Amino acid sequence: MEEKLKQLNDCMTDHPDFPKPGIVFKNIMPLFSDPERMKLLGDVLEETIREKFPGCTKLVGLESRGFLMGMAVASRLGVGFVPIRKKGKLPGEVVRQEYTLEYGTDVVEIEKASLEATDKIVLIDDLIATGGTMKAAVKLIGSTEATLVGALCLIEIDFLKGKEGIDNFVSLIHI
Ligand code: PRP
Ligand code: MG
Repeated sequence: MEEKLKQLNDCMTDHPDFPKPGIVFKNIMPLFSDPERMKLLGDVLEETIREKFPGCTKLVGLESRGFLMGMAVASRLGVGFVPIRKKGKLPGEVVRQEYTLEYGTDVVEIEKASLEATDKIVLIDDLIATGGTMKAAVKLIGSTEATLVGALCLIEIDFLKGKEGIDNFVSLIHI
């Protein structure tokens, strides 16, 4: 596992001052541009979810890089994948959650019909920084009938302490 994570970490690129001055952007896209890296990513996500969240019935991915993470592993686990999207993107009846940004608020939504009361949900995203995105998703799932069993991010920016207050949170690469 450690060697696989090192290989994944080594292929991601850092971009200082992108998209704004002072931010070092971690580019996860090299994980997907090569089939062997994609397999490696699927291996580590599959092993982690099987070990930490054995009862999971659905992965719920956070727009948009969480979609890539979820889809890299859902079919391997034999579980469904459901997206959480920014407001106005999903049709039909949705469950909605407002959350606070640095300036102002935003809203995330999930299709009501995509979850069942018996579902055991694992949230998945590429990275946790402040934790604002993940906490909004935790609240959103909390307002549905499904059960949230945990949350998984490939990368965690440790010093921001974004995971504080999120139950059963797992991350694999620490920066
Ligand atoms: C990034 C990242 C996480 C979120 C983490 O997404 O993919 O979803 O920020 O930040 P936080 O912990 O401070 O909330 P971004 O909003 O850049 O959008 P994207 O996934 O659509 O690229
Ligand atoms: Mg994101």
